[in-house]
Amino acid sequence: MTSRTIGIIGGGQLGRMLAAAAGRLNFRTIILEPQADCPAAQFANRQIVAAYDDRQALAELAASCDVVTYEFENVPVDAAAILALSVPVYPPPTALEVAQDRITEKAFLNRCGIPTARYHAVDSQADLEAALTDFAGAGVLKTRRMGYDGKGQRVFRSAEDSPGGAFAALGGVPLILESLVPFTREISVIAARGMGGKVACYDPAENVHCDGILDTSTIPAAISDATAEAARSAAEKLLAALDYVGVVGIEFFVLPDGDLVANEIAPRVHNSGHWTEAACVVSQFEQHIRAIAALPLGDPARHSDCIMTNLIGDDIDSVPAWLSRPNVLVHLYGKTEARPGRKMGHVTELKSEEKP
Ligand SMILES: Nc1ncnc2c1ncn2[C@@H]1O[C@H](COP(=O)(O)OP(=O)(O)O)[C@@H](O)[C@H]1O
Ligand SMILES: [Mg+2]
Repeated sequence: MTSRTIGIIGGGQLGRMLAAAAGRLNFRTIILEPQADCPAAQFANRQIVAAYDDRQALAELAASCDVVTYEFENVPVDAAAILALSVPVYPPPTALEVAQDRITEKAFLNRCGIPTARYHAVDSQADLEAALTDFAGAGVLKTRRMGYDGKGQRVFRSAEDSPGGAFAALGGVPLILESLVPFTREISVIAARGMGGKVACYDPAENVHCDGILDTSTIPAAISDATAEAARSAAEKLLAALDYVGVVGIEFFVLPDGDLVANEIAPRVHNSGHWTEAACVVSQFEQHIRAIAALPLGDPARHSDCIMTNLIGDDIDSVPAWLSRPNVLVHLYGKTEARPGRKMGHVTELKSEEKP
């Protein structure tokens, strides 16, 4: 074992699940997160309660850890770069830089030969109107930075949707207008790249979103082998281009002919990979810990088909019902207040084998 203490920037449920996986492999974990008693800290050895860009906290984290990782993509790039001067940081901070801005992200994907929606940068209401004209009035307007769970977005379905005031309504910040992709389904692929460049890819999940938030991931996705292979090959290209170490989640739209359009990259473990903890021997969380700790990657094959359902807000009340069902793994995040839209936990139901 080359690393003994792992630092995790961010204190949410992804950090919690990473800390649990790290603990099982005898690693200690330290969480950097401003909110005390956060979900991740409940499973970690220690929390440094400070802002992600607090210089003193970063120095303390670097001095206390053998390797540092992160559980969300909006870690300040400067903070990651400062850490990287004195401790290995995986995935590489360049992955953060690429993923934090939807325009940088799409330009990078296109450079890797991976198609995305067409797009225009929108920095004013006039830019928006010109961009919509180019897309015949249809498109998805998004903040370039900090968007998640469908927040900071507005959809234009046709030229009848008036763009009046839309630039200001999204906060007057830099935006992107993407062409509206006529997808038949959405999939994601969770892949890991180890220290030596070896890649392990889980089978693609088919994702259904509700109000912009992931609702379910179903495995296997109803796609052809060729589409699944295209998703894997896109992941491999992208991971190699970033000289990546760790787990990445890549979201795609599937077009009616099976072709793929990449939507976004998450340089971290991903909600649509939570099913791996129930249906694979090595979950995405353990896989990420293995990758950043220079351990051999686990086999990404699954032993069961399954469906993962997020428990959002009041869905937490359905936990007793889920617990009484067979073949269901329930995972809760230790959040006390169930606000609407807040991810409280998830459940993965294994589909039982047909017995001959
Ligand atoms: N260009 C697009 N065309 C059609 N639908 C889109 C487009 N962009 C986003 N969507 C829909 O909105 C959802 C959320 O968008 P996404 O870019 O993934 O934002 P977030 O970062 O909030 O997850 C997507 O999963 C998809 O259902
Ligand atoms: Mg998304």
